[in-house]
Amino acid sequence: MAIIANPKTIDLKDVQGMITRGYGKLYETAYFLLKVEDKEKAKEWMKAMIPLIDSADISDHSEKTIHLAFTPEGLAALGMSKENIEGFPVPFREGISTQDRNRILGDWGENDPKKWRWGGHQEGFHILMIFHAKDKESIAAFLQEEKDRLQNSGGCTLMREMRGYLRPDNKEAFGFHDGISQPVIKGSGRPGPENDIIETGEFLLGYKNEHNQFPFSPLLKKEEGNTSLLQDDAAGSGKKDLGHNGTFMVFRQMQQHVDEFWKYMEQNSLNPDGTPNEEAKIKLAAKCVGRWPSGASLVNFPDKDPGGSLENDDFGYADIDPDGLRCPYGSHLRRNNPRDAFRWYDKKQSLKITRRHRIIRRGRTYELPPENGSDKGEIGLHFICFNANIELQFEFIQHAWANNNQMRHLHNDIDVIIGVPDEKNPKANHSGFTIQAEPVNQFIDHWERFVTIRGGEYFFFPSISVINYLTTL
Ligand code: HEM
Repeated sequence: MAIIANPKTIDLKDVQGMITRGYGKLYETAYFLLKVEDKEKAKEWMKAMIPLIDSADISDHSEKTIHLAFTPEGLAALGMSKENIEGFPVPFREGISTQDRNRILGDWGENDPKKWRWGGHQEGFHILMIFHAKDKESIAAFLQEEKDRLQNSGGCTLMREMRGYLRPDNKEAFGFHDGISQPVIKGSGRPGPENDIIETGEFLLGYKNEHNQFPFSPLLKKEEGNTSLLQDDAAGSGKKDLGHNGTFMVFRQMQQHVDEFWKYMEQNSLNPDGTPNEEAKIKLAAKCVGRWPSGASLVNFPDKDPGGSLENDDFGYADIDPDGLRCPYGSHLRRNNPRDAFRWYDKKQSLKITRRHRIIRRGRTYELPPENGSDKGEIGLHFICFNANIELQFEFIQHAWANNNQMRHLHNDIDVIIGVPDEKNPKANHSGFTIQAEPVNQFIDHWERFVTIRGGEYFFFPSISVINYLTTL
């Protein structure tokens, strides 16, 4: 597949940088959850933040970045009227943890939001502040500066601080190279494989999406604030658009049970004499993920990890692996983006469908020290993704692809990495994993979940001019 040009048509200076950039050299991250205490002082503080927010324009790239995201309660606390908040899409307004969303996402049992340490409307926080810096020393100084600024402003209190990091080899906690498959936003100026260049409106509000329509964007219903800072609705309603150049952000704190994951892989790949087989263990884990630990694709390297650091995302399944003999149908990669290989459709039609369910992932690893008398700390992924339509993108992927045990040719299988069975399924406590093989498939039974949700929320991730507008409410 050819790498094609992607001319710049978006005003990148107005787009918060994290949407188009992973900040691969800024290894340290932090997240502040803030509560607005004094509206006017909080808006003064936000005004001072605006020049520090990193935009998606490459000329803005700095060694320390700040991004801001908001909950509906946050918009209200800054003075937005009920009428205008009601213009936002339902998932954002309701938040991540309604009864229906819990069912769709699989947030029951150990994943139940009542057990989360943050989010799900528990603490009523308003603003999420995201920091990136290159190392531990620079982030510590950066956070201290911003804590002092927050305190001096008197506008917001810091309710929770979380830290994260990117390993220099880009590996997540199970040991697999992450962050390789990413869609490229059409109009962002970044070239990419043809099938990865996706219509702007899948990731930014105010532009046409893969349905050739404008995504549901919050239009101003009631005049308030300095509306000259807002763009007109691109769909032509004559209203002002609060969403233009912004998007929605999903944040899930996902604990990874690394020892259990590898123990399971070992026990299900033993030699005939019962001794561990290291090579078979890694191969089984790679079949579950859909890439080797190095990041190499199973489609291109079906037998062995070539090693090194392979970031190739330029492949499909339909021609080279239609029967899943290289990369299993049920692997994390193939489930979460089946690319050109829906079995019911031809390649073109498959791609048309999958292009409507892509997300931009910006997850990073976190670690926590042991607590409550436990001798073991916690490790996991601060999963973050951007999408213009939470229901059609993140929720669809988690529900219809990762948690789906009804896929053709599979037997009660769900995504081994992130899948959660239906609570009402009598076999809910254990699931299987099918590896397509000749002459017969291999079926691995009885794995427990290797990931537990510990927190999360949906956020509005506005354009820089809309952040400015919020300070005028
Ligand atoms: C602890 C949780 C998770 C882990 C350890 C994990 C790990 C990985 C790894 C190792 C890859 C391959 C690297 C790459 O292609 O970039 C990947 C790809 C991917 N993951 Fe996850 N992931 C997690 C959570 C999620 C969640 C919650 C979703 C969405 C609901 C998701 C969606 C995807 C998608 C869409 C891809 C790319 C597929 C493609 O385009 O081929 N992941 N993940």
